[in-house]
Amino acid sequence: MIAIAIDGPAGAGKSSVARKVAAKLGYIYVDTGALYRTIGYAVLHGGKDPKDAEAVVNLLPSLKVELAFAEGEQQVLLNGENVSDRIRTPEVSMAASEVSAMPPVREFLFSLQQNMAKTHDVIMDGRDIGTKVLPWAQVKIFLTASPEERARRRYEELVAKGQDVRYEDVLEDMKQRDYNDSHRAVAPLKPAEDAVIVDTTGNTFEQSVELLTNLIKERLA
Ligand code: DC
Repeated sequence: MIAIAIDGPAGAGKSSVARKVAAKLGYIYVDTGALYRTIGYAVLHGGKDPKDAEAVVNLLPSLKVELAFAEGEQQVLLNGENVSDRIRTPEVSMAASEVSAMPPVREFLFSLQQNMAKTHDVIMDGRDIGTKVLPWAQVKIFLTASPEERARRRYEELVAKGQDVRYEDVLEDMKQRDYNDSHRAVAPLKPAEDAVIVDTTGNTFEQSVELLTNLIKERLA
């Protein structure tokens, strides 16, 4: 099996770029952030506080999280219900960041991620794919961009979806999540030692897709 690990901070363009590159190369694209978002959503939906580790951990046994693919698009199911759209709000982003710092949550999602790569050629994106989930991945990429550029891209995405948000708030959220994701005790965000670091600040989407496609082809050759 072939596995390409793409890690990096929120809003670096990982998911959109990785999805496109996967389609070009004929691999399955797995967005692992969606899994943490699903737990965050379940916690909020259940009326619990995402900072309350005990409440979050107690909720886990009642959750069944599954991935499905419809025309190459990943769908995430929570107890059989498709929650793929509902996990894309700023509230769920923040809850996902909180719960992803809890070791039992990471453990809960670990084998689901590993099993995907055992059965398919994948491009998997997340924070700890190259370091923890698929340390054997043939190619590891750490995709990043400046916080301002990442916030701008995320802001435009949310506005395009009709959400009423302010750029300043998106930037503030982005910085807060960066801090949480890189300072937590478990699986902090950091490049694998053998990762290629790619900074996409100033790149167009097409340029990043081209860059990554070529890089992966070169590395696999
Ligand atoms: O990539 P994203 O914004 O959808 O991720 C949501 C949150 O989940 C983010 O705060 C970091 C966390 N996450 C993680 O800890 N490990 C992963 N492999 C993927 C995401």
